[in-house]
Amino acid sequence: MSTRRITNLVRRLWTSVTTRRQVGWLLWIGAAAVLVLVGSWLITSGRREAQILRSDPDAIPAQARLMDFAVARGAGVFRGQCAGCHGADGKGSPARGVPDLTDSDWLYGSGQVRDIEKVAYYGVRAHNPRGWSLAVMPAFAQPVPAAGEKLAPLSPGEIQAVIAYLQSRAGHAADPAAAEAGRAIFSGKGGCYDCHANDAKGDPAIGAPNLVDGIWLYGDGSRQAIFDSIAYGRQGVCPARAGRLSALRLREVSLYVFALSHRSRPHSDTSRP
Ligand code: HEC
Ligand code: HEC
Repeated sequence: MSTRRITNLVRRLWTSVTTRRQVGWLLWIGAAAVLVLVGSWLITSGRREAQILRSDPDAIPAQARLMDFAVARGAGVFRGQCAGCHGADGKGSPARGVPDLTDSDWLYGSGQVRDIEKVAYYGVRAHNPRGWSLAVMPAFAQPVPAAGEKLAPLSPGEIQAVIAYLQSRAGHAADPAAAEAGRAIFSGKGGCYDCHANDAKGDPAIGAPNLVDGIWLYGDGSRQAIFDSIAYGRQGVCPARAGRLSALRLREVSLYVFALSHRSRPHSDTSRP
């Protein structure tokens, strides 16, 4: 068929009243179908949102569809509210004392959705009465290492001894005499055991890090970085978001963080939400 014949055919069809009516009907049906689709999408989203809010947060990761829905939305919240400090990939920054949220090492609690949500709501040392703020790392080079605590300062030599003890505990080479002196300081006058526990493995009830697992919140684990933590103290802050983000957004971002750190765990359940 030549182009002219096609054009003629189309023109004839269009000028016929019946065809115009049929096209009109088709447009109406198309519009109605779009409305139905958008409507059912909105209803499903609304139902999932309600379910996310109603559920025990720790039970959501096992519900694959609901979890995927929440995680996809939480990713946007994370980009806007958290990535500036924790990094777009959630791996944090040892140079700034921001923890990696993708590993299984937790300062506070044990990485359950509830634990993450508590930090997302109330923060760490963020002057929120419901947030984490039970301990700070004293500055042992100061005459008074921690306000309100009976702790004596440590000399640079004593600090080096404690570092030798921690390094020997972590399986690194260290001078045995220094390590022994450091052990005595750790479980004696330094008071380190009080927060970091007798075995130096830390205390997730107050956010005192494990000092012998090779994972460092501050710096690269070099003697200098450890020295700086002990001599000058540390008190990292994670901002509170309660009142600034809705309960739904806070739960979505907490589920996203949970997913970051539990990537290898397969969804066990495919039930419909
Ligand atoms: C009052 C409780 C308390 C005492 C006592 C204390 N620490 Fe800490 N320490 C903390 C807390 C809390 C942190 C984490 C600070 C933060 O998150 O910003 C910390 C952090 C550290 C860090 C940094 C860890 C990392 O992963 O980068 C080192 C090293 C450390 N402490 C060593 C010691 C040693 C050695 C002693 C004893 C001489 C000691 N601490 C005594 C509470 C304490
Ligand atoms: C201003 C920088 C900053 C922002 C923004 C920020 N964080 Fe944090 N976050 C930190 C720091 C620093 C810590 C470590 C606090 C400490 O030293 O104890 C932390 C700790 C945490 C922890 C505890 C990790 C653990 O090991 O127990 C979680 C969970 C967390 N943040 C989640 C979030 C979420 C979710 C957001 C966004 C809603 C967010 N953070 C926004 C700086 C930030």
